[in-house]
Amino acid sequence: METKKVVLITGGAMGQGRAHAYKYAENGFNVVLADMQDPEQDAFKETIAECQNKGAEVLAMKCNITSTEDMEHLFAEAWERFGRLDVVIANAGVINFGYTWELTDEQVEKVININLIGTWRTDKYAAQYMLKQGFGRIINISSTSGLYGTPKLATYCMSKWGILGLTKTLAKEVGSKGIIVNALCPTKVKTPMCETMEYVQFINDLTGKNFKTVEEMFNGVPFLEVEDISSMVYWMGTSREAGKFNGREVALDLGTLQ
Ligand SMILES: NC(=O)c1ccc[n+]([C@@H]2O[C@H](COP(=O)([O-])OP(=O)(O)OC[C@H]3O[C@@H](n4cnc5c(N)ncnc54)[C@H](O)[C@@H]3O)[C@@H](O)[C@H]2O)c1
Repeated sequence: METKKVVLITGGAMGQGRAHAYKYAENGFNVVLADMQDPEQDAFKETIAECQNKGAEVLAMKCNITSTEDMEHLFAEAWERFGRLDVVIANAGVINFGYTWELTDEQVEKVININLIGTWRTDKYAAQYMLKQGFGRIINISSTSGLYGTPKLATYCMSKWGILGLTKTLAKEVGSKGIIVNALCPTKVKTPMCETMEYVQFINDLTGKNFKTVEEMFNGVPFLEVEDISSMVYWMGTSREAGKFNGREVALDLGTLQ
């Protein structure tokens, strides 16, 4: 009997990562969830329990993608438990805001360290294990901010453009060895990342609107739902068609790239 397929998701405790875990669990995958949050925390606990309800065996680990030690440990444990790694979703990420001339070293280093170097680190170990087994798909979560510039978002844009360079390079390195590496570039998505007044202020500055709450903002400008991203990430990770391109960025842009 063939063993169940396995997906590993960074930033899997909540937001988009949680939705991806549900989608893969529903479709018969076992799930490895890595997040800087502790699996004992409420949000993470809920994600784990729901994946189990959907029939998945779950390995959940507190893991910071900026730590080589954590990431080595994560992949070694996942391999030890499941013995295969079909899909890796490099999803963990953060955002911060500031005009380019106002940014501090700390702000820039934080986002580059997590979003860009953390994604490279995820891809590094994903590639090592996938090369061993001779197959696999890696999906890097970039953003429409990896496709155009946005005022007050230099740190985020730099990191998300960088992810596309990584995606294209790794795809060329491993494409002939059965491994597919693509990036997904969503525009704004309703997740905890956007549920802060700082984010609302950023959108107000960008659009000239005057939203007073997160709810008003969600209703006033176009946002994707997490399920939109999950469906795409599932298709990219499993479909025959999505195995026919490599090193590409796929934009879920709600028409903003026109
Ligand atoms: N929400 C959006 O509008 C949007 C749009 C395009 C792309 N994205 C990208 O999608 C991905 C998921 O974002 P989200 O909207 O679900 O955000 P979120 O803040 O709701 O969730 C992010 C998750 O990543 C975890 N995380 C953060 N830093 C980590 C680290 N160093 N190590 C391990 N885990 C860490 C958090 O604990 C959290 O569980 C990110 O890469 C983000 O940049 C988000």
